[in-house]
Amino acid sequence: MQISENITKMINGQIKAEFESAYLYQDIANYYYEKGLHGFASWFQVQAKEEVEHAEKFIAYLHQEGKNVVLGDIKKLGKDYASLEEPLQIQIDHEALVTSLIHAIYAAARKEDDFRTESFLVWFVDEQAEEEEHSRNLLQEFKFAEKADALIDLDRALAERK
Ligand SMILES: [Fe+2]
Ligand SMILES: [Fe+2]
Repeated sequence: MQISENITKMINGQIKAEFESAYLYQDIANYYYEKGLHGFASWFQVQAKEEVEHAEKFIAYLHQEGKNVVLGDIKKLGKDYASLEEPLQIQIDHEALVTSLIHAIYAAARKEDDFRTESFLVWFVDEQAEEEEHSRNLLQEFKFAEKADALIDLDRALAERK
């Protein structure tokens, strides 16, 4: 028994969304690097790598199910952020969007009695809860640090993420 064409299509869409996340976070990493906030840059670089790992998990799942992987177009990014704070809000909005995509696949799997996909997606459902929390925390920390004139300290703390 293999997963349906509908689920396959949605997972291919998710592979694209994960690569788009990686592309976005790489763009943000480049932006911070060029602004001289190298800790922020490094933090987003790690974030971008994690998103590639997410794409790889979905790809491996389609391989396991004997389904074809189709890589979609990824749009050009401009790095035209209005302020140092803006990418942090963009990250929050982006993670909320990704959560809704994963929940939509989960709901579709449930409707089809596709227990295997449901089980596979549990890790991602939990991961999104973490990513949403972390992105909210980062924006809050940024605001505190900015007020306290301590952005450079936060930058050094973010450089620690492996
Ligand atoms: Fe992801
Ligand atoms: Fe993410």
